[in-house]
Amino acid sequence: MANFKTLDDIDVKGKRVVVRSDLNVPMKDGKVTDATRIERSAETIRELMEKGAKVVVVSHFGRPKGERVAEMSLKPVADALAVVLGKPVAFADDCVGPAAKTVVNALVDGEVAMLENLRYHKAEEKNDPDFARQLAELGDIYVNDAFSTAHRAHASTEAIAQLLPNAAGRLMQAELVALGKALEHPAKPVAAIVGGAKVSTKLDLLGNMVSKVDVLIIGGGMANTFLYAQGKDVGKSLCEKDMADTAREILAKAEAAGCTFILPTDAVIAGEFAANADNSVVSVDAVPADQMILDVGPASVEALKAKLTECKTLVWNGPLGAFEITPFDAATNAVAQAAAALTNTGALLTVAGGGDTVGALAHAGVVDQFSYVSTAGGAFLEWLEGKDLPGVAALKR
Ligand code: 3PG
Ligand code: MG
Repeated sequence: MANFKTLDDIDVKGKRVVVRSDLNVPMKDGKVTDATRIERSAETIRELMEKGAKVVVVSHFGRPKGERVAEMSLKPVADALAVVLGKPVAFADDCVGPAAKTVVNALVDGEVAMLENLRYHKAEEKNDPDFARQLAELGDIYVNDAFSTAHRAHASTEAIAQLLPNAAGRLMQAELVALGKALEHPAKPVAAIVGGAKVSTKLDLLGNMVSKVDVLIIGGGMANTFLYAQGKDVGKSLCEKDMADTAREILAKAEAAGCTFILPTDAVIAGEFAANADNSVVSVDAVPADQMILDVGPASVEALKAKLTECKTLVWNGPLGAFEITPFDAATNAVAQAAAALTNTGALLTVAGGGDTVGALAHAGVVDQFSYVSTAGGAFLEWLEGKDLPGVAALKR
């Protein structure tokens, strides 16, 4: 294991353990609509409770920017956590000060409390040492289980780690192990699928990928920009024409690094971005001026499936086509299912994460079949960019 502690290395019995979870969950009308992050965070909390710790869970929720925005209270999330744990969760309506201290002091061994939204205090996002000290006063040990917030250098993810003995929680540990297997010491050849709308938002990511992976497969709107950069006419397709030079630089960098760069050779096109729009399949050399590319074509899908059988590791970020509207979800579904089938036989290690990706894999019905699906959006992307994540770095120190 890497150079940080885990729950195996710390003695928590009778200790107050401040756990930084990421319980920033989707919510509608005061109800949690997707409990994935709560369920995945519960493992650490449950283990600490079973080991006789007094567990103090802290998290941010939304972006209240230092104001007490009522809709961004963590109280409904505490109630949802209680359901997942099957145990009561005490709640303090502030994460520092007397309200927090009263609730924490009332805990007996094996019990859990959740504190109100960290971002009700501006000092949290400022990585303020005094605010971190107030949080640290609530615990004897600090456990960071929030990989998906590790790209933020905030008081609860960075500064506090300097003040208490610390360890990674089980979810943080699982994320780091999975990501390590995918890019740091992977079984080769390694392929990456990078999709999504824009080259401009994934420049650093693409730059890092070409130097790390053997095969880079491009899909989504950003593939159009690369095709355009190669001199092809992409019609009405989403395309960042001003990124053509940059796209050519990335292609050159891939070639120099010996990275096989795969763009679609055929495409599913339609006259408008709409579900069930009239569509046809053409070569990427023959996209009519009044049509737009909405998905990777069937010949390209077959080529990608064949390519994956030659690889041992796959990192996936971003859909291949407009998966949210049928039938333009076909390529994403087919390649995701092929990757899942190879995972099932043990031939391929598959790691996915970031933004739309989990939604696309869920739509394809394969989330449970991938080797690892990250709970992280922005943090997963920054990790793909090769950046040091402050929350992870703080644990290592
Ligand atoms: C996320 O949902 O991506 C994390 O919880 C981080 O949230 P943030 O982007 O508001 O910092
Ligand atoms: Mg985010």
